[in-house]
Amino acid sequence: MPYVIYTHPNGERKEVEIPLGQNLMLGATAHGIDGIHGDCGGAMSCATCHVIIDDAFAALLPAPDDTENQMLDFTAAPREANSRLSCQIVMSDVLDGIAVRVADSQV
Ligand code: FES
Repeated sequence: MPYVIYTHPNGERKEVEIPLGQNLMLGATAHGIDGIHGDCGGAMSCATCHVIIDDAFAALLPAPDDTENQMLDFTAAPREANSRLSCQIVMSDVLDGIAVRVADSQV
């Protein structure tokens, strides 16, 4: 099964397997990754699933759509170049091993 490496702001890393087709927010909440809340369940209305994608994988992702782009302007932690909403990142074969950093704060 493909996996994600979640890195917390304090540097702690956790590797989690998630199924193909599952988004990275659900993968995080299902495995108790602290700091990813996913309050809206993936409806793109809360921005509490903010992550920063590792450079090596950021280019593999489709660009955020207009709604995600607007939500990223309202994240609790400042938006960074590779900021994304993890509920919009869907695991695929090409993303196996993707590394993401959990934003410093979500609320
Ligand atoms: S879970 Fe609410 S915007 Fe991602």
